[in-house]
Amino acid sequence: MRVLFVCLGNICRSPTAEGVFRRLLEERGLAGRVSVDSCGVGPWHVGEAPDPRAREAAARRGLDLSDLRGRQLADADFERFDYLLAMDHDNLAELERRRPAGCEARIGLFLEFAERPGEAVPDPYFGGEGGFERVLDLIEAASRGLLAEIEARLEPPS
Ligand code: 4NP
Repeated sequence: MRVLFVCLGNICRSPTAEGVFRRLLEERGLAGRVSVDSCGVGPWHVGEAPDPRAREAAARRGLDLSDLRGRQLADADFERFDYLLAMDHDNLAELERRRPAGCEARIGLFLEFAERPGEAVPDPYFGGEGGFERVLDLIEAASRGLLAEIEARLEPPS
């Protein structure tokens, strides 16, 4: 199973989701069965580490995002991933626009897994520090929901 988190710049929200969800997988012993990655729809931060404010907020929750590097969404991602999960409606619209015919991946808003259908993870880039804490709270909730769904798919009831 392969999961891709998608935001605009790949330096704030989606790398945070990658780090949070990867740690959950490790805690559940699923890191070898589920792979996780993140990307941005825009090109501006390719090759960059996550925003220092995102790294600091994650570090306060024991997460190290410093090894991650920005990359841009690629056509091959629609074949490589089972889930392409957008942080906001603009990212989702871009995924829907580029989705190739016949693509069977699940494409949607990440916060659907936090029982917040139709809601976005607010872009914290132009805001204050509090935005990054809010991003983490929302991403932690959605990650728990996504993990539950993936665990059910990996181990269907007999
Ligand atoms: P992200 O945040 O999409 O959560 O990584 C942003 C990062 C950079 C920009 C906008 C949002 N930017 O305009 O450069």
